[in-house]
Amino acid sequence: MKDTIISKNIKYIGADDKDIDLFENQYIVPNGVSYNSYIIIDEKIAIMDTIDKRKTNEWLQNLEEALNGRLPDYLIISHLEPDHAYNIGTVVEKYPNIKLVGNNKTFAFLPQFFDIEDLEQRKVVVKDGDILDLGEHKLHFIMAPMVHWPEVMMEYEESEKILFSADGFGKFGTLDTDEDWDCEARRYYFNIVGKYGVQVQSVLKKASSLDIKMICPLHGPILKENLSHYIGKYDIWSKYEVESDGVYIASASIHGNTYKVCEELKNILEEKGASKVVLADLSKEDFAEAIEDCFRYRKSSICFGYI
Ligand SMILES: [Fe+2]
Ligand SMILES: [Fe+2]
Repeated sequence: MKDTIISKNIKYIGADDKDIDLFENQYIVPNGVSYNSYIIIDEKIAIMDTIDKRKTNEWLQNLEEALNGRLPDYLIISHLEPDHAYNIGTVVEKYPNIKLVGNNKTFAFLPQFFDIEDLEQRKVVVKDGDILDLGEHKLHFIMAPMVHWPEVMMEYEESEKILFSADGFGKFGTLDTDEDWDCEARRYYFNIVGKYGVQVQSVLKKASSLDIKMICPLHGPILKENLSHYIGKYDIWSKYEVESDGVYIASASIHGNTYKVCEELKNILEEKGASKVVLADLSKEDFAEAIEDCFRYRKSSICFGYI
């Protein structure tokens, strides 16, 4: 069930995208994807990222409703990728006094996407450990380079103990999708940020000193309970540790004979007592799922055959 309730003064203003064909034009998303965005209402109002162009109207409506006649003071830019940043230009046009909050890299890249004439006056440059005071709410900035782009940063709101985790802890699937978090979060993780395990580890280290009650990512459900489960998964994945005992065999076979050999291999391993053997046909199955499974299981082998 869709749960977008955060607190009295922090609201969800994102949108679900159920009819997207391929996320990032490459990943199949049978249950769509959500573009999350949030707003913190205090003496100062901060919008936490915008969303993809595909859902601009819905997002603007949510934003206006949450603002309830007030004007936003800050737009926090955690990530410049267009699925989150597309509406920066819209916001600047609509709210001429809004300040844009990012780090040095954010503002180095931003002119590649937007032509904002008065950017110098409008920008608030933050670095690791800086705090933005909104009133009762205080945002601590945590630089998270390469989780998923070089300019990514996360924010920790100290009064409500909420971590705004950018693409971290994200998942495919709209918010009303009732499915296991691990499976689609793992596929998302290994395909989107999987090669940056070292950088994910360094963010987890910084986060370990924080008392986190809730994680608000830019995709997928808001995580409210059992946070050690999700953080534990990220720890395993980013250390490239084995998550599940088992063997993964991926086969690509032009005439089907190599696939038959792999089936036989699976039978032999099972007869010999292998707890779980997963056989995938790369010619037909989702490559993103294959990448996920390669990392997941203790032993993986890939067989390519012409015969
Ligand atoms: Fe991203
Ligand atoms: Fe994203």
